[in-house]
Amino acid sequence: MIDTNKKNRLSSIFLFQTSSIIFTFFIIITPTGSALGSSNNAATSLEDTGRKLVLTTGCNDCHTPGYIIANGDVPERDWLIGDKVVEDITIKAVYPVNIRLYLKGISEKGWIKMARTKERKESMPWLILREMPDDKLRAIYRFIKSLD
Ligand code: HEC
Repeated sequence: MIDTNKKNRLSSIFLFQTSSIIFTFFIIITPTGSALGSSNNAATSLEDTGRKLVLTTGCNDCHTPGYIIANGDVPERDWLIGDKVVEDITIKAVYPVNIRLYLKGISEKGWIKMARTKERKESMPWLILREMPDDKLRAIYRFIKSLD
């Protein structure tokens, strides 16, 4: 004989369990759903990472005309188009290339290989790029490609 109280308790336990199962199911499927969302999102977030890396590793400092003087206030469409920079120590001019143009002739694989093997001669910080994991180099590549 089950009294009403016990019945109520049992049904709330049942309800609780059911809702936890639904909740857990929801948690499990939600990330999968968004991951499946679209490959466009993945591409965009790789480009976003690349944008942040370009900003934080100083590519604009040398490769974007007027970037330092403007305190970084240069529209993205004008980034990385190349410049002439006079190095302080040697007082000789160096020419940070137009990276956007440069990367047109280089595959993603080629870019990663280049970053791993180039030796530093002028101020170009190859040693920073050499230490960067592949996915970060790929992100920089994708972002710079997306500028055109
Ligand atoms: C301190 C200044 C400076 C910074 C910062 C800098 N570069 Fe450079 N970069 C140069 C100079 C100078 C050259 C030309 C000499 C050379 O190739 O080493 C160059 C050349 C290059 C080249 C052409 C290489 C070749 O073989 O001709 C690429 C590609 C490039 N830079 C990408 C980048 C990227 C990406 C960043 C940001 C991670 C960056 N640079 C940051 C100064 C800089």
